Amino acid sequence: MSTVVALDIGSSAIAGVELKTARERVTLAKAAVEPLPPGLVNDGEILRPDELADEIKRFWRTARFSGKKVRLGVANQRVVVRTIELPALEDEAERRAAVEFEAAEQIPIPPEQTVVDAQPVLRFTTDAGERERHVVVAAHRDMVEGLAATVRRAGLHPTGIDLEAFAILRALLPPPPVIDEGSADTPAVAVCHVGAEVTNMIVAVDRRCHFTRLVGFGGSHLTKAVAERTGLTPEESEVVKTACGLLGEPLEGWDPETVAEVRHALALGARPLVREIGRSLDYYRSQGFSRPIERLVLSGGTSLCTGIDRYLQQGLGIPVEIGDPRRQLDEAGDLTAEVAARAAVAVGLALDAPEAS
Ligand SMILES: Nc1ncnc2c1ncn2[C@@H]1O[C@H](COP(=O)(O)OP(=O)(O)OP(=O)(O)O)[C@@H](O)[C@H]1O
Ligand SMILES: [Mg+2]
Repeated sequence: MSTVVALDIGSSAIAGVELKTARERVTLAKAAVEPLPPGLVNDGEILRPDELADEIKRFWRTARFSGKKVRLGVANQRVVVRTIELPALEDEAERRAAVEFEAAEQIPIPPEQTVVDAQPVLRFTTDAGERERHVVVAAHRDMVEGLAATVRRAGLHPTGIDLEAFAILRALLPPPPVIDEGSADTPAVAVCHVGAEVTNMIVAVDRRCHFTRLVGFGGSHLTKAVAERTGLTPEESEVVKTACGLLGEPLEGWDPETVAEVRHALALGARPLVREIGRSLDYYRSQGFSRPIERLVLSGGTSLCTGIDRYLQQGLGIPVEIGDPRRQLDEAGDLTAEVAARAAVAVGLALDAPEAS
């Protein structure tokens, strides 16, 4: 049996999950989401490491996670993701060298300041022979080390750091077939994880990431739109946002005009999200290797906003559904949809090759 714990440290909350794997069955042992005081993390970057370390320590103790090993995710402006194309190479060392060389050419950060990770995502044949497309992630070394140091200060041992986008795909989409087995007809799926400050936008084929981008939009922008329109405080705006949602039926016990006003503010406030998702999808579609996009899957705290799926479907013209990380687990216990949506990144981080402990 193996146990893996993963943490997703966001701007509004820490989410953590503990998964146990026994006889190939993956079971959720624990899951927790706890709010973080504002200002410790912003746009995916740690601003106040000492206070954050105290919060992580407290979170770990309260949730009673096992051991000290932890997997972590990163998504911020100091991580660059590119896709590169190379001749297909069978030799692992040769392939690694070729990817690193090409990555150094394309990534605008000096190689000694980055940590680079790459995954093959597609193999195809051209007149020039077999070629392979790789997605390359280059993260600023000091940012990654800063995250690991903060978590160590909380008394934990980071055992792996992955791109949030990869974790989100593992949490929301079924496992892929083998890389070079007939996937030529598989359509693409867009996945959009909308948090409090940022949105991870991903396009995947067979659960492999073909495009990803971080958008500076989240639920806090919706709360702000409500506050600006209604004159309510941020705390009150958060409450009415959650109660009213973007679209829906009249709310019992609520003044219909207030509900309409809040929904109107949310509809206007969510326009940048439609625009940014639309821009990302158009960019993906303009690539020579693109596939038709079949649907958009949503997760993150803001996916809990009632009607956001219908709103985005109307705005984008493709089917939109709410994803559920519980489907990737054999046993999800009493994990609620609310916690699952906010812990999707943590679930995906923990699903990556569990190690024995
Ligand atoms: N029922 C709900 N209706 C509307 N919005 C909701 C609901 N529940 C949570 N949210 C919003 O979800 C956001 C928090 O989501 P999440 O926990 O995924 O963010 P985070 O990981 O802390 O942020 P980020 O990843 O952007 O740093 C908040 O903006 C909150 O208002
Ligand atoms: Mg988040």
